[in-house]
Amino acid sequence: MCGIIGKIGPDAGRFVVEGLKALEYRGYDSSGIAFVDSGSVKILKGVGTIDKIVREPPLTDAAIGHTRWATHGGVTDFNAHPHSDCTGKYAVAHNGIIENYADLKSELMNAGHRFRSETDSEVIVHLFEDAVRRGVSYMDALTYTVSKIRGQYALAILTADGHILAARNGAPFLFAKDGDALYVSSDPVPLLFAPDVYRLVDGSLLHLYPGGYELRGSARRVTGISARRVDLGKYRHYMEKEIFEQPRALAETLRYLQTLQRPEISGRVHLVAAGTSYHAALYGEYLLRMQGFDARAFIASEYLYWRGQEPDVLIAISQSGETEDLLSILRNGVSSEVVAITNTPGSTIEEYARDVVYTRAGPEVGVAATKTYTTQLTVLAWLAGIEGLDQLPEAVSQVLKNTSLIEDLSKRVASARSVYFLGRGLHLVTAKEGALKLKEISYIHAEAYPAGESKHGPISLIEDGFPVFFSVGPSVYTETASNVEEMRARGAWTVSVSPNPLGPEDVHIAVPSIPEVLLPVVEIVPLQLLAYNAAVLRGNNPDRPRNLAKSVTVK
Ligand code: G6P
Repeated sequence: MCGIIGKIGPDAGRFVVEGLKALEYRGYDSSGIAFVDSGSVKILKGVGTIDKIVREPPLTDAAIGHTRWATHGGVTDFNAHPHSDCTGKYAVAHNGIIENYADLKSELMNAGHRFRSETDSEVIVHLFEDAVRRGVSYMDALTYTVSKIRGQYALAILTADGHILAARNGAPFLFAKDGDALYVSSDPVPLLFAPDVYRLVDGSLLHLYPGGYELRGSARRVTGISARRVDLGKYRHYMEKEIFEQPRALAETLRYLQTLQRPEISGRVHLVAAGTSYHAALYGEYLLRMQGFDARAFIASEYLYWRGQEPDVLIAISQSGETEDLLSILRNGVSSEVVAITNTPGSTIEEYARDVVYTRAGPEVGVAATKTYTTQLTVLAWLAGIEGLDQLPEAVSQVLKNTSLIEDLSKRVASARSVYFLGRGLHLVTAKEGALKLKEISYIHAEAYPAGESKHGPISLIEDGFPVFFSVGPSVYTETASNVEEMRARGAWTVSVSPNPLGPEDVHIAVPSIPEVLLPVVEIVPLQLLAYNAAVLRGNNPDRPRNLAKSVTVK
């Protein structure tokens, strides 16, 4: 959540402004840049994205920037980062939460500091200012600052003489070197070009200055970051592009899996994840159970309340590798062996994993997960030892070749108030993910339910024209067909996504006939497109749904 970026070197202003655009998927309530201008720190910031705040990137050799997803303090110009100290010599950009900020703020105010925002973050720069005023070095001032704050953070402080100080504790932070230029970022994406990228280890401090750096603590070199450029090409939005990229993402993931030894899984298995990745966990649970494993899926933020036995293996699934709800489980020390599935090499989840398996989807920019989801399903099917995965890229490609029916149906969905997604067995996973996609980006209420259970409650909402989408496979045709009839008899407008139509009157989105166990990888694709089209028709930007962030690094 929130993004930080910084550079010391030529044209730092342009790099930071461009980098902020690349980081907007982390949060985009407000944004800002601090840069060195004739020996002082200037700040441009406010509500909205960076292109609304900075018309022309400032010419400077040192700058930091921030894109915000509000936690403490409303979305206002003053609360936007970076925040300045009282002297205007320093500016801080911070991700995370400073738990003891209220006490620190009153101490600092009593000592005469002036605060301009309601954020927890502003205390950092005033603490730093105090320490430097006492005559200590920048590194010692940073050491003092982090010794005073409690909580979770990644932070960067810019000084008027063009240095950057950085620290992390529980929130991701990377730095990179390219020739003489030095970079910091909360996210690997803006650093894709750099030959040497390092991830700060928790508790480490970094001082970057023109020509070099000093590290107190340690950093790990990041390898395997995809250097592929992230641009829109012919597409209107990243989400659209990422939906259409799925055949390639699946093919690349499969090629990579062929080179990998399957991690050993035995005993009790828990799969833990959030959001879309949790739906992948449900699929994993289903497949592992089918293969005879004792597996169970959990929502990460609920795992804390699990009162049963500890697992032997914990499968942690997160496209970003930074979701706090999940990391906090790993940080609290699970006794089991952790197998991480992530799309982000160099992310924090790796620190806790015995084995890491990557989805090779390439960077995903749209907030709503698409290609990372289908590749997660593929990795889970591989982990469970399911055969026939090589059919997947072609099967998804087939669905993407003929999208006119989905476009038509989207028009009707775009004007609906509420939509049901129903499925049985394995196909319920698709229903859940289909409903989440529609909710996230079109803001239409959507609910997923087991098809058979829908008559025990949800059916009471059905009136003329109420849209109900069914995901169906061969093993559940007969039972689901009667649920379709029940819905239709009450006026519902029903659509099925399946290899074969359920009956002559069925509005049917056809998907290829592949082994049923693999169908969820394919049957979600039309529902992703449905959500995408509905969002666009309603005038929403699907890449930046309101109130959501791609990587949620707070609890
Ligand atoms: C956020 C995103 C979702 C994502 C979830 C889990 O809520 O908006 O798209 O599914 O986090 O993210 P992860 O990176 O852990 O898979």
